[in-house]
Amino acid sequence: MTGRLVDSVVDRAVRIVERATAKANSNVALAKYWGKRDEVLNLPYTGSISVSLAGLSTTVGVEFGASLAADSLTLNGSAASEREARRITSFLDLVRQAARSDQRAQVDVRSNFPVAAGLASSASTFAAMALAATRALGLSLNPRDLSVLARRGSGSAARSIFGGYVEWFAGESSDGTDSFAEQLAPPEHWRLGVAIAITDEKRKKVGSREGMMLAAKESPFFPAWLESHDADLDVVRRGIRERDLVAVGQAAERNCLKMHAVAIAANPPLLYWTPSTLAVIRRVWRLREEGIEAFFSIDAGPQVKVLCPWAQRATVADALGRVTGVLRVLLSEPGGGVELVGAA
Ligand code: DP6
Repeated sequence: MTGRLVDSVVDRAVRIVERATAKANSNVALAKYWGKRDEVLNLPYTGSISVSLAGLSTTVGVEFGASLAADSLTLNGSAASEREARRITSFLDLVRQAARSDQRAQVDVRSNFPVAAGLASSASTFAAMALAATRALGLSLNPRDLSVLARRGSGSAARSIFGGYVEWFAGESSDGTDSFAEQLAPPEHWRLGVAIAITDEKRKKVGSREGMMLAAKESPFFPAWLESHDADLDVVRRGIRERDLVAVGQAAERNCLKMHAVAIAANPPLLYWTPSTLAVIRRVWRLREEGIEAFFSIDAGPQVKVLCPWAQRATVADALGRVTGVLRVLLSEPGGGVELVGAA
């Protein structure tokens, strides 16, 4: 990985800026990543397809300094836990190796949506960090290599490098060089409405990382998940191409329910839903009976993301907002990829 990263540098150290800030959007997977064949390299068993979410973003500032004795990390203005700091340091080590630097860094991470509650904050965080940290050390990676690097921080971050509709390929090689994401279609290809019902803002007890490891080892349904996944990927990919909301929505719902079934059947069981998560599911199904093409997806948390036609997003958001237990509803749509917001 490191060797390849070094080889792929297009514009090595023309100017070491030492400080850079980047911003990336979160994403919601329509055919999900749930299970790693390699836990160190974050290599998935299957491919996955997502849509990047406008307005749900994380901004990461990274500043390297010769006088810094250790990496330090703030998350939304507060000092991070030791565990979170370790994860960032391991990630920065990859960038330092590639840039042949031993400088420590100050990292500031700010998200404008509930973090660690099933809204893919690790995806936007590591996508933004990959760009900010490489630029700060004077590396200029192409989007594919940036996706490979972001993947090392968090699998779903490989997808948040790109805007619009994005596929992350599982790849076959053991070094992970062929496990990267690519844009399937830009945001303007298909302006979907995405309404996000927040049912609980607390930090989740079992993150996606532990959750998918438990599911892969301890759920009897995991083999069935793997066997049926490629068919979902095919339907979602084709549906995006043809802007077919019913095809994409039905496949996304099915894929999400299968992922949660795998988790629920694990030993010990893993249930991410609250009663209001289920109430939102039922409301979405009722919206369909009422003639609105709305479809849900849920990641490793209790929030529910609902896809719908752009013109009906306000109606859908209003209906979700009235469900008992829904705290608030965020409105989003397909958004852009990672970008620099400043470099000194
Ligand atoms: C349910 O990307 O957070 O959101 O690679 O361990 O950081 P790590 O996991 P992460 O898992 C995301 C799981 C998911 C489905 C998805 O986004 O595809």
